[in-house]
Amino acid sequence: MKIINGSTYEGMCLEAAKIIKSQMSVKPTSVLGLATGSTPIGVYKALIEMNNNKEIDFSKTTTVNLDEYVGLSGENDQSYRYFMNTNLFDHVNIDKTKTFVPNGLASDIDGECKRYDKLIEDLGGVDVQILGIGLNGHIGFNEPNAYFDKGTHQVSLTASTIEANARFFETIDEVPKTAVSMGIKTIMCAKKIILLANGTAKSEIIYETCFGNITPNVPASVLQLHPDVTVIVDNDACAAIKNNIN
Ligand code: PGA
Repeated sequence: MKIINGSTYEGMCLEAAKIIKSQMSVKPTSVLGLATGSTPIGVYKALIEMNNNKEIDFSKTTTVNLDEYVGLSGENDQSYRYFMNTNLFDHVNIDKTKTFVPNGLASDIDGECKRYDKLIEDLGGVDVQILGIGLNGHIGFNEPNAYFDKGTHQVSLTASTIEANARFFETIDEVPKTAVSMGIKTIMCAKKIILLANGTAKSEIIYETCFGNITPNVPASVLQLHPDVTVIVDNDACAAIKNNIN
């Protein structure tokens, strides 16, 4: 694992955006694996600015998102499709027909999961996958005790994740209880992975992820086994690992 301390939130996001920019200059047809949540918003802002400055071109890019709530349509302002449209796709020169998010309204969710994995395979796999991390070490919606060998599948959100995500809804009862998520196996198949974390609350889980035991209790710890992972943090999220890195 390579670990970069970007110092500030903006610095962290810029480091991630620069890696994506390099990837896309080498391979304009790259498949980007994208994440939602508050953490990557600054990365998307940096990419929008680079696109405005003609430093990065999305016209040949394909994207696949990690996950989507079951039961929300793409027009729902809490859906991850809506998040991606408003935080990135509406502001860059991407062909929206080449942006993919699992369909949370599919009548056959298991079939949707299989379709999504096949789609990723047909695209030739993900070139760079962006990940945030939950306070409990989840990546995508792979909660503690997730199996490491699963592809895209339906997941039940843990109480702590429902509570963490309730801030985006009017009431906690409105938070969907299930989601479609790329599995750990899907994520581990990405050629390159960038894991982002900022803020003091993420410091301990970043220690566990990078230097703790590799265990399904901390799903992100499996990333220690991936050949090309860059963990990018700010000073606060770096606190518990600062003695372990240069
Ligand atoms: P956050 O969520 O970026 O909003 O902290 C991260 C996650 O749950 O994966």
